Amino acid sequence: GGAKPLAGRTAIVTSGPTHEPIDPVRYIANRSSGRQGHAIAAALARLGAQVTLVSGPVTLADPPGVTVIKVERADEMLQAVLGALPADIAVMVAAVADWRVATPNAEKIKKQPGEGPPPLMLTENPDILKTVGHHARRPKVVVGFAAETQDVENNGRVKLQKKGADLIVANDVTPETGIMGGTRNSVKLITTAGAEQWPDLSKDDVAGRLAGWITERLT
Ligand code: C5P
Repeated sequence: GGAKPLAGRTAIVTSGPTHEPIDPVRYIANRSSGRQGHAIAAALARLGAQVTLVSGPVTLADPPGVTVIKVERADEMLQAVLGALPADIAVMVAAVADWRVATPNAEKIKKQPGEGPPPLMLTENPDILKTVGHHARRPKVVVGFAAETQDVENNGRVKLQKKGADLIVANDVTPETGIMGGTRNSVKLITTAGAEQWPDLSKDDVAGRLAGWITERLT
């Protein structure tokens, strides 16, 4: 209870996309805006938590009262998250690129007449949520997101287990929903206890409710 129920608690939140370099001027990225992750960091801070927000490249302002670490690549994001452990709460909201270019070119890749496009060899990025969910210093509450375009609930359930999370917040990012990059979100909470669909809400309201869920889980 009280106005600051998370006072004395620490939280790590990831947010935004990652940029995986192809060469010094090009990268692989995705449509994440960081709005949901930043809103969650702000909501946890409002409840009194000491929050470290590890953010990929976004155009958003830093949330008030939050320590922000800015990164570009998934491997940098992982290092920043591990460096912020131990923590009571981890909420991994970033849309981490699944793959990166295995060996980014040191120089800008030039068009070679007659040679066609360069092949891009990809390699898997580390899974930050999975690393944290199975870490020796695993936070008491670990929350992941699952952006899906099909079979949202089943995919979320598989992720809950595989990644060692207490909660997966699944959302349908089919382009028609406008969720990815937008300001509203329609999420389904998936725990071992079952699934709960929340109504269509602003990302700030989703963040507020989620901070409440986390608080209950901790106390
Ligand atoms: O496997 P998928 O990318 O759908 O899982 C989504 C969840 O896992 C999100 O919480 C996301 O932040 C996290 N994740 C991560 N590191 C990755 C891939 C996903 O932390 N490399």
